[in-house]
Amino acid sequence: MIEKEKIEEIKRQTDIVGLVSQYIQLKKVGKNYRALCPFHSEKTPSFYVNPEKGIFYCFGCNKGGNAINFLMEYEKMDFPTAVKLLAKNLGIEIETSKGLKYKEIYEANEIACQFYALCLSKNIGKRGRDYLAKRNIDIEKLQDFQLGYAPLSGGLVTYTRQKGVSKQALFKTGLISQSTSSRSLEVFRDRLIFPILNLSGRIIGFGGRSIDDQHRPKYLNSPETPIFKKGDILYGLYQAKKAIRTKNEAILVEGYFDLLSLFQQGIDNLCAPLGTSLTEKQAILISRFAKKVNILFDGDLSGMKAALRAIGLLINVQVDVFVTSLPEDTDPDRFINESGADVLKEAIKSATDFFHFYKKMSKPETVEQEVVLIKDLIQIIGNIHDPIRFDRYLKYASHVFDIPVKTIKKAMQRTDVTDKPVARVKTTTEEWLIAMILNLREHFAQIKSILVSEDFSEPGIKRLYEQLLKDEKIDIDEVLASISEELRQKIYSVLMRDESISKQYFIKAIMNFKNDVEKRKIGAKIKEATAKGDDASVTKYQKELLRIKSTVVVLNQKL
Ligand code: GTP
Ligand code: MN
Repeated sequence: MIEKEKIEEIKRQTDIVGLVSQYIQLKKVGKNYRALCPFHSEKTPSFYVNPEKGIFYCFGCNKGGNAINFLMEYEKMDFPTAVKLLAKNLGIEIETSKGLKYKEIYEANEIACQFYALCLSKNIGKRGRDYLAKRNIDIEKLQDFQLGYAPLSGGLVTYTRQKGVSKQALFKTGLISQSTSSRSLEVFRDRLIFPILNLSGRIIGFGGRSIDDQHRPKYLNSPETPIFKKGDILYGLYQAKKAIRTKNEAILVEGYFDLLSLFQQGIDNLCAPLGTSLTEKQAILISRFAKKVNILFDGDLSGMKAALRAIGLLINVQVDVFVTSLPEDTDPDRFINESGADVLKEAIKSATDFFHFYKKMSKPETVEQEVVLIKDLIQIIGNIHDPIRFDRYLKYASHVFDIPVKTIKKAMQRTDVTDKPVARVKTTTEEWLIAMILNLREHFAQIKSILVSEDFSEPGIKRLYEQLLKDEKIDIDEVLASISEELRQKIYSVLMRDESISKQYFIKAIMNFKNDVEKRKIGAKIKEATAKGDDASVTKYQKELLRIKSTVVVLNQKL
């Protein structure tokens, strides 16, 4: 038996696009990737891979699933073999030599975090506290971040041992560089410690800033481990995700201090990459929480370049991108300390849209440079899915660069950014609904107040809904493993279509469905009463039917 946590970790970490690309050639189309299906013979590609959801689906032969299912199907492997192969690709040991569990690494991190926080609060951490004070950071306001201090003299090994952490587990956290108890091998010394949390709030790694500027490097992250991949995670996202969701906007900063400085002054919808440039995975992650991203990088050239790179990645995941520019010699942390939170908030509010920022920043001096700029921008605009936004930017680009819309569109087609819509697999209302319910699990509280399992007539769907009622957080793959192959395929086809619909629209669709169910029930009763010649009941039911019909939300269900 492979640990359940481990399977989840493997699924989460596997890049399905990378995996499938080892077998067939994928081409990017919008959010998805596409290819000729490896499971049936076809002339036009209908096999799709969605990197965000980690799934594939073929609209031609209806095969679909996650990375594990892909391997099982393609390589004709059984489940454990497929999981083991993925683990091997990721460098994850399924069974470590002494059977170390993932849970133990998380626990070791937790205890290490306690140690660093304790040090910061004690005599030994005075250097850390003084440094924070000097940089105007108020730990009291930043409790959620569990800041700490790693003393020059170490002590982590002793502390964690006393708390029952095995040396082997500590080693796996990357906080000591060898599996020995020698103090000199602790990775962080005389550094401020920033614990890095994943989206479940578990500590997966640490960042450390040197207190002594002579002590290089200025920042040091704990090494990547099976549970810590820098490019997959954003600092602060766990603490900020609620604010980001509520505001539907994320402010992206470059550094730990930028984030903390702003956060303590009430700008709380923030996140930051871990010292590397933004990755596609991080962009996808942000897009799960906000419709809009405001890039607030350092004012220098490298900050500007990083912003230009981030724009393309973020547009690709269909968020609206704005950029707040700061004066050249400053960063958000410095700016808020020198100019105050109100001035910064004002600047953030008046951020520039990506197009203007792009244009302003690259001042082409030759025709060739201008061509490159135009092509870059056209490529970015071509990836905007929202038709109105796309049209606006298209017309704007046409106007600004004095190039006919037709020419721009032609250029886009050549880079293959526009695409024919996918042929749709026919799904029934119930199939569509249950797939959307699985996909929009965050609205489940409201859904379950409307729908009961009896509303579904299809037994497989009814059972699935009952499973959700029992455990609404149940893993999607776990649910899908227990249903018929046919239903599973239908659900994957809906998931792959990836209709972005609002919560409001979805709830309306559910209410419409509920109304239909009730109408059908009453219809049956009318029929029965008519057959019996029970006119009084017929009239009563007809009235009820009218009432339901009049409450039906007029809604054009795109089913
Ligand atoms: P302060 O100087 O403490 O204000 O940091 P900063 O956030 O202004 O640093 P900077 O703009 O130089 O870097 C932004 C981010 O890049 C930091 O928060 C780190 O995550 C990362 N970074 C900076 N320097 C290093 C380094 O030497 N090594 C590593 N691994 N990361 C670094
Ligand atoms: Mn700084």
